[in-house]
Amino acid sequence: MTPDIRPLVAGNWKMNGTRASLDQIKAIAEGVKTDLSEKVETLICPPATLLYVATALCDDSPLAIGAQDCHQAQSGAHTGEISADMIADCFGTYVIVGHSERRTDNAETDHLVRAKAEAAYEAGLTAIICIGETADERKGGQTLDILKRQIAGSVPDSANSENTVIAYEPVWAIGTGLTPTVADIAEAHAFMRDDITKRFGPAGHTMRLLYGGSVKPSNAAELMAIANVDGALIGGASLKAEDFLSIFGAYKTLLD
Ligand code: PGA
Repeated sequence: MTPDIRPLVAGNWKMNGTRASLDQIKAIAEGVKTDLSEKVETLICPPATLLYVATALCDDSPLAIGAQDCHQAQSGAHTGEISADMIADCFGTYVIVGHSERRTDNAETDHLVRAKAEAAYEAGLTAIICIGETADERKGGQTLDILKRQIAGSVPDSANSENTVIAYEPVWAIGTGLTPTVADIAEAHAFMRDDITKRFGPAGHTMRLLYGGSVKPSNAAELMAIANVDGALIGGASLKAEDFLSIFGAYKTLLD
């Protein structure tokens, strides 16, 4: 946690979820209607097919809805793509960009991720920009260099604490059940804080830095308590309302 930063608990559903899963969104939207939501923000990023109907379900809930990617252009001849404007048109308020699965599956570069984040800003969305090292890079002792390079390349100069969230997701921790040690996460997040503060000045002090990679109810309290960890980006455990709400609930004791 960071004093004066409102944490964000965000779920990334990836390519999971059909209309039947809307019950889970309904349950999450209901479950976050507590006083804790004044202190902790919540977000679910379902697949684009569910975006519009999901935002409609959250009309009277503090739960925000976002998308998992956007194209760098606002419209045009790009078959199959979704623009940031379209996400905003569906009342989405966030978009994840540069997730490692997209960096790998779609060969997305830092340069492209930066352009996507800029498109998100243009549309009035907050971009969640993902960075993180692979297992080999960690073994080679390159973790902090990778984070520095990805922040420099993927985060636009116009980033501020309103339009940008940075998510540190070690690639080897995603969907594997493995997590870095508390000390390793603390080191990475302190490094990121220092790096963005040097570049963005005071905005760097208030920009949210999420941790992602095998966050679950059993480790949420420990991970969210780490200095400079301002929330979580959750894959698998965000698909079930019960698990997502339990991770959100971990802040009850942390914020007391
Ligand atoms: P996981 O995914 O929680 O299933 O490890 C995290 C992510 O990819 O954002």
